[in-house]
Amino acid sequence: MEKNLEIISSLCKRRGFIFPSSEIYGGINGFWDYGPLGSELKRNIRDAWWHFMVQWRNDVVGLDATIIMHPRVWEASGHAAGFADPMVDCKDCKKRYRADQLCEEQGKQLIRDGKNLLLPEGVVCTECGSKNLTQPRSFNLMFKTYVGPVEDDSAAAYLRPETAQAIFAEFLNIVATARKQVPFGVAQSGKSFRNEVNPRNYTFRSREFEQMELEFFIRPDEAVELICGKVTTLADNPDLTGEPQEDWGWEVWHRYWVEQRLTWYRLAGLPQEDLHLYWQTKDELAHYARACVDIEYAFPFGVQELEGIAARSDFDLTQHQKYSGKSMQVQDDRLRLACEAMTPEAKEAFKAKVIADWRARGKDALEAAQFVEDLFLGRYIPHVIEPSAGTDRLALALLCNAYDEEHLTDAKGKEDIRTVLRFAPALAPVKVAVLPLVKNKPELRDKAWKLYADLRRHWKCAWDETGAIGRRYRRQDEVGTPFCVTVDFDTLENDTVTIRLRDSMEQIRLPISEIVSYVDKSLTL
Ligand code: GLY
Repeated sequence: MEKNLEIISSLCKRRGFIFPSSEIYGGINGFWDYGPLGSELKRNIRDAWWHFMVQWRNDVVGLDATIIMHPRVWEASGHAAGFADPMVDCKDCKKRYRADQLCEEQGKQLIRDGKNLLLPEGVVCTECGSKNLTQPRSFNLMFKTYVGPVEDDSAAAYLRPETAQAIFAEFLNIVATARKQVPFGVAQSGKSFRNEVNPRNYTFRSREFEQMELEFFIRPDEAVELICGKVTTLADNPDLTGEPQEDWGWEVWHRYWVEQRLTWYRLAGLPQEDLHLYWQTKDELAHYARACVDIEYAFPFGVQELEGIAARSDFDLTQHQKYSGKSMQVQDDRLRLACEAMTPEAKEAFKAKVIADWRARGKDALEAAQFVEDLFLGRYIPHVIEPSAGTDRLALALLCNAYDEEHLTDAKGKEDIRTVLRFAPALAPVKVAVLPLVKNKPELRDKAWKLYADLRRHWKCAWDETGAIGRRYRRQDEVGTPFCVTVDFDTLENDTVTIRLRDSMEQIRLPISEIVSYVDKSLTL
């Protein structure tokens, strides 16, 4: 079925998934609110991510940091100087565009001239058709604010444009308290802010949004080589589905996390054929990245990024070491012991090899020598692999994927269309709706209400007593509730209920005492 974003967004509005922010004042471009059902959906996404990335693993811990941090964080990270989009203005109608998007829409590509970007010939304003456009200018995407009562530069601060930096800024505290050795990760989900030039595609590109990020710290390849005598690369065809191995180099760790994340998206219900991998080219890489793979989803408006998985090397921690003056090195006893067992000749040979490698990559020989000396003492700044997912983007992908219109014909030949959101039950906003067959029979209604009160203690449930039972089932289908429990006259006799299933519309009879285990079985991702 062809998915239509207008139909999906209108359902989201009508049923309380997503509203334009501050709508009573005309809305505000690039900001969206999640209503009663949308907030449940997002909470379920966050929880499922946390279970998979933190709770079920022994090598990841969590963080919940502030949105506003010391402004030096953004100087160190490179965001203050370099986190910018190229912006173009129409001099006639004053409409503002992101230069790359404007070109792309017109089948053209921005021209790169060293560090400068230029508009190619023939690009026009989409709004008024004018050719009178400015050349691209850099526009920093961070929202600026002031901390305290005085609005001068000494009080300037920024809303975070990514949650990642807090993990680097808290790295030393976490190492000191979490009792984890490299390789280990730190996960955080929360709000981030980017003053997008041109928010678009419904909630996909918003100015306030939520991220779910993991910074997974690994040994530099040179440390792996000293400990294991070799570094496994992708060419060695490692098994990425089993337990991580000590001899993995960064490339393998990177690919491991791509596989982990793809597995998770499939568990969340996104079909394999709608998920794509895009390897960013050198030009597209963010200032910190050594390699980056985007996991993309086929949205109704095109194939677009859900998550970027970047290999950030030791860029961030090295920057924070420089800017804060605090050593970001870890002490790795496995490495120290391995080095203590080496002969002086082996050490010299290793050092010469690393210096030659670094030189070949245009890096400084003295720095390389110091790096190796530190390795011999068991010390290094960890490298990092970063799977960085957009919570709102996933919510939108799940809504698009779940949306279905089923053409039905009843026994009398009457045709009908059933709208149904086929969410994975674990992510569905409401798990169970409790429906008393009739509402004017107090005994039956009381029984149903008591059941509703009991089931609410397990999962988010809904209560609906208005309208014909068929219509009530359809109402629940439209918001993706996987199970409807109907309390009828037989329930009063024998304590059994009808469970009506969203996807097949099948109805089964179950004792009340078995509902919880029956529903729970379907709720693991
Ligand atoms: N931390 C990577 C990103 O926000 O895109």
